[in-house]
Amino acid sequence: MLDFVIDKKHDESRQGEAFAPKVFASNSFAKKFYIESYGCAMNFADSEVVASILQGKGFEITRHFEEADMIFINTCSIREKAEATVRKRLTEFRKVKKYNPALLVGVLGCMAERLKSKFIEEEKLVDIVVGPDAYRTLPGLIEEAESGQKGVNVLLSREETYGDISPIRLNSNGVTSFVSIMRGCNNMCSFCVVPFTRGRERSRDAASVIKECTDLFNEGYREVTLLGQNVDSYQWYNSKDESIVSFANLLEKVALISPLLRVRFSTSHPKDITDEVLFTIKKYENICKYIHLPVQSGSSRILQLMNRTYTREWYIAKVNRIREILPGCGLSTDSITGFCSETEEDHQQTLSLFEYCEYDLAYMYFYSERPGTLAERRFEDDVPLEVKKRRLQEVVALHRIHSLKSMEKEIGKTVKVLIEGNSKKSDADWAGRSDNNKMVVFPKSGNFHRGDYAEVVIESCTAGTLIGKIKIN
Ligand code: SAM
Ligand code: SF4
Ligand code: F3S
Repeated sequence: MLDFVIDKKHDESRQGEAFAPKVFASNSFAKKFYIESYGCAMNFADSEVVASILQGKGFEITRHFEEADMIFINTCSIREKAEATVRKRLTEFRKVKKYNPALLVGVLGCMAERLKSKFIEEEKLVDIVVGPDAYRTLPGLIEEAESGQKGVNVLLSREETYGDISPIRLNSNGVTSFVSIMRGCNNMCSFCVVPFTRGRERSRDAASVIKECTDLFNEGYREVTLLGQNVDSYQWYNSKDESIVSFANLLEKVALISPLLRVRFSTSHPKDITDEVLFTIKKYENICKYIHLPVQSGSSRILQLMNRTYTREWYIAKVNRIREILPGCGLSTDSITGFCSETEEDHQQTLSLFEYCEYDLAYMYFYSERPGTLAERRFEDDVPLEVKKRRLQEVVALHRIHSLKSMEKEIGKTVKVLIEGNSKKSDADWAGRSDNNKMVVFPKSGNFHRGDYAEVVIESCTAGTLIGKIKIN
């Protein structure tokens, strides 16, 4: 997933992380809100939009839910476990409500959209339920809830992109940021709940994307990740000059803001990523050579049941094309084991595809049936849980070999690192990412700062980190 580029940025690695702004002036009369986000990077980006809407209405953000007048939880429905995590967290908020009965609890995001007002029946402490396209109505819903009614708005929109809203960067390192370029998804993969929780696909005005990226650059940010469930189908019709901006055009426009601004993107659907996009990545040094290309399964039969609209052979041809046009390009994926009717032979096909692709990074899951999806309505969830889990472990074990190999291949190379901040383990070391998205740690020396680029010679590695030192010319 957006857990795509993951690391701290990609989705579920950040589950449960509370967001807090860098600096906010305190106004003791303002009501305070706390917001916690789960799920993919798009949800995290949405929380920044919500924070902006609420701050615009005079509410003040807090990083401590104990002192909040309202608690918002931005939720994910992608797998059963994601929903269970949210329910568990709500139980903890219930304890706070006991000593602060005036506290409002709001559920935002995909689970709100999926369950709608049922949420309020099931979880009595919830006062507000807001779907992903209805955040502009949140201040009004807060008023309703304050007057003792329940506030619910789960209307999906065909137009809403929040393009005019300047997100408030939450928990930001001041160097890297997400920028949503589209919403929704039209793909209807049979296992997936997203088309139901996020609605129809729509692209955001290209000019507003460029403005947001330019503003970020001017504020000192040095990396943007352009977000969408299927970025390659981005399309914006500019009525002023009747031109159409494709994803390749948008990438180019963002890359041209400054050679010092790194550009990443996620997620690419294998059926939609074009040569034009690959050549645009090649043309600009500041567009990172890293592609998240979810495969889901290595079996063409299962891919057809999943409604992914490509075959194993098509996927392999795409990977070959990426490697031909962009040698050394980082590649990551998502996979699901134990989808309906998956046999040992289908599973072996997934393993052999992993063997072929040797991904740098993979987000691997076992199938979790989601209510209302095409698969739930059409197919039987017939692979026993222990078989799903065993197959998942086999994919994980194989991928571990490949990811370590991909780290070891970097030893001896000099890589350009964008410094994001101190390393987690020591303030004496910097941490940042290489162009192909590997975490690099190296001792501080010379006159470098957060947001600077450093040439680092890689000397060793662990499974997740390259270790090096600054290159001396
Ligand atoms: N839009 C992206 C794409 O086309 O691949 C993926 C978005 S989804 C938020 C992230 C990942 O979650 C998917 O790629 C898939 O591997 C996984 N996923 C989605 N639905 C799932 C389900 N029902 N059970 C297990 N994993 C699922
Ligand atoms: Fe879900 Fe498929 Fe859309 Fe990705 S492309 S969000 S997996 S329906
Ligand atoms: Fe994202 Fe989860 Fe919704 S992965 S789009 S928050 S269902």
